[in-house]
Amino acid sequence: MKKIVVLVSGAGTNLKALIKAIEKNKIKNGEISLVISSNEKASALAIAKEHKIKTLVISRKNFNSKEDYQAELFLKLKEENPNLIVLAGFLQVISKEIVDFFENKIINIHPSLIPSFCGDVYGIKVHEAVLKKGVKLTGATVHFVNEKADDGPIILQKSIKVKETDTPETLQDRVKKKVEWKILPKSVNLFCLDKISIKNNKTFINN
Ligand code: GAR
Repeated sequence: MKKIVVLVSGAGTNLKALIKAIEKNKIKNGEISLVISSNEKASALAIAKEHKIKTLVISRKNFNSKEDYQAELFLKLKEENPNLIVLAGFLQVISKEIVDFFENKIINIHPSLIPSFCGDVYGIKVHEAVLKKGVKLTGATVHFVNEKADDGPIILQKSIKVKETDTPETLQDRVKKKVEWKILPKSVNLFCLDKISIKNNKTFINN
């Protein structure tokens, strides 16, 4: 059984999708051992507690520097020693040290079709940028994390149509429901079943 740590900062709807998928056996061979939040007010914490999952808050504001924050996060991750770390709406940068130590064991969900609308935008800002540009398709991407933002090998992507009547909020809502809550659990399941291999910065799914 793979031990999974989920890192969150906000609403936690992707965390909920993962918990549901584990309960329904849509994620096989995986269990969430710990949820770490960068924000003590995150609703994600209540979701974890409801499901009797251990939680830990590592709040950025309790640390003097980004480096001190990253060092504490690294320490706690090493203590937990997971097989997989999932960034499910985690809004802090992961240090190179963490990425190197957990090489190809950290995955992230980003609410756009990477390499569009990524790198310096996150959360609702992605959907604002999508609407400003007027692209006709958007979606989300699950990828491995490397030292650059939203840059590692892509595991799964799925697109949906942008509607002329969309607001950033309606688009965010639809991308979460129709894309994120599907491709994140699917990617975690593939990882837990050892079905993902990486070659030349690309992933291959072995069936
Ligand atoms: C999700 O839309 C996720 O893709 C995004 O934050 C939201 C978290 O929602 N992540 C990023 O933008 C990371 N670059 P949730 O707390 O309801 O899962």
